[in-house]
Amino acid sequence: MQTNSKLIKNQFKKSLDKYEQNAVVQVLMADKLIEKLPRNFYTRVLELGCGSGVLTKRLVKNISYNKYYANDIVEKSKIYIDTILKDYIFLGGNAQRLQVNGIFDLIISNAMFQWFTNLEKALEYYKNKLAKGGTIAFTTFAPDNFKEIRDLTGLSLEYKSLEEIREISQKFFDVIYLENFDYTMTFTNPLEILAHMKNTGVNALSTKHWGLKHVKEFCDKYKEIYPDLTLTYSPVIVVGEYKD
Ligand SMILES: C[S@@+](CC[C@H](N)C(=O)[O-])C[C@H]1O[C@@H](n2cnc3c(N)ncnc32)[C@H](O)[C@@H]1O
Repeated sequence: MQTNSKLIKNQFKKSLDKYEQNAVVQVLMADKLIEKLPRNFYTRVLELGCGSGVLTKRLVKNISYNKYYANDIVEKSKIYIDTILKDYIFLGGNAQRLQVNGIFDLIISNAMFQWFTNLEKALEYYKNKLAKGGTIAFTTFAPDNFKEIRDLTGLSLEYKSLEEIREISQKFFDVIYLENFDYTMTFTNPLEILAHMKNTGVNALSTKHWGLKHVKEFCDKYKEIYPDLTLTYSPVIVVGEYKD
């Protein structure tokens, strides 16, 4: 399905307060991404889609840097990043067409690139923003992500396969780390699954408001087809280096 940046913006804006307590998998992804960075000092860091700062706060504990630029399409994200970083520059706007001067030796993003309508174009753009010797590190998701929701409702982002992500990334960077793993969460009630998705901004998948009847049908079907009430995440971790 096509993404709608206005809808994404609205849903993430609403979910910011409850995001971190629900973002179990995104925290895991952030930790893995940081662990795979090839060095721990960078002069200019650009973080894309920083949200409430799940990656930001973990990253700055693990690296040193001179200048930090943080971007999100939701301007309210700045309020959260202000509590983590003292001296940084906030860049509000769509990372797919971000106007920012200069080049960076670390471009990093957690759980956001899946929202890009054109990953290849975005990576090409950020290749030109990466300094020689620099690192690009991002996480996204593979097609099995939320497979239960896709099976039950037909709603899903157009996730790229690991091979597609590898192929596109290799066009612009030397890929030094690439991993895909599944992580299954279990809930006690399908309503909890809906709340979990809402609180992590994922209901940006649909513009439609679900009435009570629709919610009940969803819950009944979930219990029937996935009686263990699982929700599968399928994160992808990518670390690349500047390529001539
Ligand atoms: C799943 S959250 C991840 C937040 C954070 N990076 C983390 O580590 O948890 C995705 C974030 O990306 C932002 N976002 C989505 N599409 C974007 C875009 N095109 N440009 C910039 N930010 C975007 C959302 O507003 C949201 O804050």
